[in-house]
Amino acid sequence: MCGIIGILGDHQAAPIMVDALKRLEYRGYDSAGIATVNDGALERRRAVGKLVNLADLLVEDPLAGKAGIGHTRWATHGGVTEANAHPHRAGRVAIVHNGIIENFRELRDELDGPWESETDTETVVRLCETFLAAGKTPQEAAFATIDRLRGAYALCFLFEGEPDLLVCARHGPPLAIGRGEGEMYVGSDAIALAGLTNRITYLEDGDRAVVTRAGARIWDADGHQTNREERAVYIDLARAEKGGHRHFMAKEIHEQPQTLKDVLELYIEGDRIVPPAEVDFAALSRLTIVACGTAHIAGTVAKYWFERIARLPVECDIASEYRYRDPVIDPAGAVMLISQSGETADTLAAMRHAAGEAASILSVVNVPTSSIARESDVAFPIAAGVEVGVASTKAFMNQLAVLLCLAILAGRQRGTLDAEREAELVSELRRLPGLVSQALAIESRCADLASWLAEASDILFLGRGPMFPLAHEGALKLKEISYIHAEAYASGELKHGPIALVDRSLPVVVFAPSDALFDKTVSNVQEVMAREGQVLLVTDAEGAAAGGQGCRDILTMPDCDPMVTPLLYAVPAQLLAYHTAVHKGTDVDQPRNLAKSVTVE
Ligand code: F6R
Repeated sequence: MCGIIGILGDHQAAPIMVDALKRLEYRGYDSAGIATVNDGALERRRAVGKLVNLADLLVEDPLAGKAGIGHTRWATHGGVTEANAHPHRAGRVAIVHNGIIENFRELRDELDGPWESETDTETVVRLCETFLAAGKTPQEAAFATIDRLRGAYALCFLFEGEPDLLVCARHGPPLAIGRGEGEMYVGSDAIALAGLTNRITYLEDGDRAVVTRAGARIWDADGHQTNREERAVYIDLARAEKGGHRHFMAKEIHEQPQTLKDVLELYIEGDRIVPPAEVDFAALSRLTIVACGTAHIAGTVAKYWFERIARLPVECDIASEYRYRDPVIDPAGAVMLISQSGETADTLAAMRHAAGEAASILSVVNVPTSSIARESDVAFPIAAGVEVGVASTKAFMNQLAVLLCLAILAGRQRGTLDAEREAELVSELRRLPGLVSQALAIESRCADLASWLAEASDILFLGRGPMFPLAHEGALKLKEISYIHAEAYASGELKHGPIALVDRSLPVVVFAPSDALFDKTVSNVQEVMAREGQVLLVTDAEGAAAGGQGCRDILTMPDCDPMVTPLLYAVPAQLLAYHTAVHKGTDVDQPRNLAKSVTVE
């Protein structure tokens, strides 16, 4: 993944770059580094760990210069060491890279050692230096290097003796160029450049650019000089502050009543769904939903909605499987991508795989300027605002809200939902922000339960119907931020194997609103308790009265229409994980080994 910044400025670049890298830390935080050109000399500083370590190093050992490049790393090739941190340097050139160079071994074999790092990136910088040594100009050397690369890359080159030059290239991961007053910037995205400029030009795939303080010249994948549209992009940085909460994740969980309200306003008019972009589900033979992680879980909830409400067959696939599976793409079906960032490499690749073959490419995306939003035929916004915590919360909630709205719309268009039921569901959607506020009242109970959950080495999550994906979401959230192993099972599947795990040391969290499947789930709860499994039942008041006996604990949720329970039950899934992680003292917002935006496959 990794975040990139490049600056040709009028002020000292180092502090500005550190600030920009702070905004980019969501892309990786294994190490960070910067390089500048000062009086013609190329110098760099790098530090392992969070950005604060680099900032401390720069206090002890400052770096002057008004031109520079910077990087925050999520390790791919090579461990988390200073030698593997970017920028990488060879002689007169330094580079920062986001992505993976697939032919780096082949290139390494052509070049002489010894090698300073274990990275694929060092090969790129060494190759560029050999072109410089052979007499090419910096621009020629960078372009000749880029010509040799296979794989995925966003790259930015800085050269000794060239305080007014950055060369950059995009093949896969995104890269943006920003224009200021007599200053130019390069960044992984507009968030990196927020506060510096809002005049942003996104490079297209295959583009390369030569940037000077006077502006940028861009060439497309065919080598033709080209113009790319400059847009005004406004990023609300205030939304990227913790606002009095201990963690971004806590803030984002508590923002959900408001962010839900924001998105529902975009999709509801009176008692009908009126989406902000046109789509016709009536003619579709099927819907294929493709996504990763939590976004994929939102897709699996949507399968229940589209099938039940609109009788539209849905398959939901993991993007990294779909793209290589040689899937049968129905020309009368639509493919829908779900992605918070809109940049996830596998989801993007899956989209490109289906483009031109499916009837249409739909997307449900949080970042409206992202590659997936820009390249899909119809992009549905989720309007969750900037999500900083690595564990997705408010984006999941708003993905669900949009998907339910679209399923209701599909039901109307396909004649399977009458106006009266649509009005009922819309009225329940309107109640949701309030219901989510009420659900947040279980927070102190979740904090109490955390001391029990934090002691466990394994936790099982169970659910039936749309609560099965919710069980997955509970397990995923818990794993990623508390590092406790957790698994999700469909309640009815328990006796086909995993029940062997159950003993008195195993917490079993069961999501079971009192809906049509409740009695069946309660039977499964009995099976767990008969084997001394410790059940935490998450249900409503009626469910607590009917099935709570013998459970170790009960979390009581507000009542609601069974169609909207997945949104409401996301809250305990999030709060249990959050408080367990806080109890364990892990880094909630930046858990180990993860990054917010996964731009490598
Ligand atoms: C988990 C989480 C991840 C993301 C996944 C896809 O809390 O956030 O599983 O959902 O990496 O990311 P996007 O939605 O940006 O495509």
